[in-house]
Amino acid sequence: MSVHPLPITPPTGGRPGPAADRPLLQAEGVTLEYRTAAHTVRATHRVSFDVHRGDRFVLLGPSGCGKSTLLKAVGGFIAPREGSIRLDGRVVSGPGPDRVVVFQEFDQLPPWKTVKENVMFPLLASKRAGRREAEARALHWLHKVGLDRFADAFPHTLSGGMKQRVAIARALAMQPEVLLMDEPFAALDALTRRKMQEELQALWEEERFTLLFVTHSIEEALVVGNRILLLSPHPGRVRAEINSHQFGLHSLGGSEFQSTAKRIHGLLFDEPAQAGGVDAADAGHLPRPPRVQEA
Ligand SMILES: Nc1ncnc2c1ncn2[C@@H]1O[C@H](COP(=O)(O)OP(=O)(O)OP(=O)(O)O)[C@@H](O)[C@H]1O
Ligand SMILES: [Mg+2]
Repeated sequence: MSVHPLPITPPTGGRPGPAADRPLLQAEGVTLEYRTAAHTVRATHRVSFDVHRGDRFVLLGPSGCGKSTLLKAVGGFIAPREGSIRLDGRVVSGPGPDRVVVFQEFDQLPPWKTVKENVMFPLLASKRAGRREAEARALHWLHKVGLDRFADAFPHTLSGGMKQRVAIARALAMQPEVLLMDEPFAALDALTRRKMQEELQALWEEERFTLLFVTHSIEEALVVGNRILLLSPHPGRVRAEINSHQFGLHSLGGSEFQSTAKRIHGLLFDEPAQAGGVDAADAGHLPRPPRVQEA
């Protein structure tokens, strides 16, 4: 029976290469663990992926598969037990202003600072800008996210969507090498979530920043990402890597979108993981291994 494989990129290895063609972010064989006196929890097992400049790279997988943990490791907040994470060729060994995180929670903005002061704060704290430049940048980015009129408001007077827009403005004002987003729209109502996806897409079209985006929504992954890394249930291993640049809000409900979403669901939940992880080629594409039978 003929198959209609998903567009797929070759498996990535995270190897350092010459600066010109080197991926911006390289995760190679990353195992992440939480250790307590009583026991060890393995969050991810030997996960490898490469993110190129301008990618909208999505980590997709079920709850508990280690997506947030991977993002924390890229942020430099936890160190890999095995493997390495490199940014622009340098091993990530701690947090830095070149990686900024937008979280799901609405309380990520200090409530005693105005919207503008919230956006200025990391610029000042990291000494990336003096007061005057920080203020100019803050106003610029608040304009970009449509919040000019709320510059002097306090966070508690804003809706959830507006708070997330402030968090995005604050992150982009830092002009990070990679913008890290951990389910930033998951706590919003469906309509606002869709609007925020649209706005993120429009911002990306203008600014072409590099995005590493975590979600457990297949639909959101297809809408937001140009490449998607599928992770197996706990502990997270690579199931497949998928090109999804052709999808966006315009393709929602279309037949190719639906069939791709269905296929991703199958890859995530229906097929048993192999020890050591499964790369894209093993997950049913180019070439297909005998393990995967297509209906
Ligand atoms: N601070 C911690 N201490 C111990 N175990 C932890 C800690 N944080 C997370 N874990 C465990 O690590 C695993 C991965 O958690 P993580 O939060 O990265 O998953 P996730 O994919 O982001 O899930 P979700 O979609 O629910 O946010 C889970 O088994 C979780 O219980
Ligand atoms: Mg999480």
